[in-house]
Amino acid sequence: MNASTHIPFARRMDGVPRSFIREILKVAISPDIISFAGGLPNKDLFPLEELHECADLLLSGSDRNILQYANTEGYLPLREQIAERYARKGMVINPNNILITNGSQQGLDLLGKVFINEGDAVLIEEPGYLGAIQAFSIFKPEFCTVPLTPDGIDTEKMKQVVEATHPILAYLIPNFQNPSGISYTEDTRRKVADICRGKSMFVVEDDPYGDIRFSGEPKHSLHHYLPEQTILLGTFSKTVVPAFRMGWIVAPDEVMERLVIAKQAADLHTDYFTQRLLHLYLANYDIDKHIASISKLYGEQAEAMIAAIERHFPAEVQFTRPEGGMFLWLTLPEGQSAMRLFDLAIRENVAFVPGNPFYFGKTDVNTCRLNFSCSNVQDIEIGIRKLGKAIEQLQHKHITI
Ligand SMILES: Cc1ncc(COP(=O)(O)O)c(C=O)c1O
Repeated sequence: MNASTHIPFARRMDGVPRSFIREILKVAISPDIISFAGGLPNKDLFPLEELHECADLLLSGSDRNILQYANTEGYLPLREQIAERYARKGMVINPNNILITNGSQQGLDLLGKVFINEGDAVLIEEPGYLGAIQAFSIFKPEFCTVPLTPDGIDTEKMKQVVEATHPILAYLIPNFQNPSGISYTEDTRRKVADICRGKSMFVVEDDPYGDIRFSGEPKHSLHHYLPEQTILLGTFSKTVVPAFRMGWIVAPDEVMERLVIAKQAADLHTDYFTQRLLHLYLANYDIDKHIASISKLYGEQAEAMIAAIERHFPAEVQFTRPEGGMFLWLTLPEGQSAMRLFDLAIRENVAFVPGNPFYFGKTDVNTCRLNFSCSNVQDIEIGIRKLGKAIEQLQHKHITI
């Protein structure tokens, strides 16, 4: 097609946001930069040898079906293992209600396909998870945002938004939210269920980080309070490896039927060999022990980051104290620009994600996401000290939004 020809793209992609974080990471790629910008699990903890052994076992066996086409729902023994893990948390999930997806990101796309008509209201937290905003945007919903408080979603506002807009989906991350690190209290969870109960809507509870808890007490899933109306999204990306793209959706029967059709149309099934490999890994090794070592390391890194923030940042800078997951959230004094801080921080060789892309319709904000899972405690100390210096410069220059 020559340059003067109009490319007949479909309208559904118009206005779908590009990943701001990937753009930012291009700036933060220099080896001299200490980056708190990424959102990756720590690769030093990938169970390489164990996975190698499982792959060898599978490939040296005689079962040639490991490389064959397979059913759309996913490998049943793997779905049984997932159901069993829920059972240990007191949740009764039938393996037939689990669909294995290509990461939980595909779960978001499939839910968009199955539920969202153009103009439908979708309730989402603010700040909200970028990947969900991107996945749902293709289906052109009206996003209705509800702010987060230190106790989780603002339930008063949520009630008003639900009553005013009648959302078909409420997309929520109650544990160690991305980007804020905030967790919902038990009371917030109960209230969310009360608000949604009986309405013609589903709550999508996305929980990629729930197992990675390093302090505090586990809370009930929203599914506990609202089983018929909750769709769960899960993933092994943060607890085993993200490269496998092994996620899942838990949904009621009628929803499963639709999701399976959408999944079939998208890719027939999730990589079968990798499902078998993951199943063998879960059968032969103690994943809970592995998760405990991830949680221990991230807990030490989060603690180091908080201690460094307390030492190096002015007292007016607020921050969350996550009990798990991979992120914490800074709030600069009112009116100070996270984007300007980013520019100053890059000059100091430290990177983070300015809060902008996690909001709707705000061009500049005073919040920042910091990742602690990928930096060792020495780099955390140095990086936070440098960031403290950049904050001082920002305040000194009175650079405001
Ligand atoms: C809240 C949230 N949901 C979903 C995902 C996607 O995870 P997956 O690798 O399973 O696609 C992520 C990844 O960072 C996430 O933070």
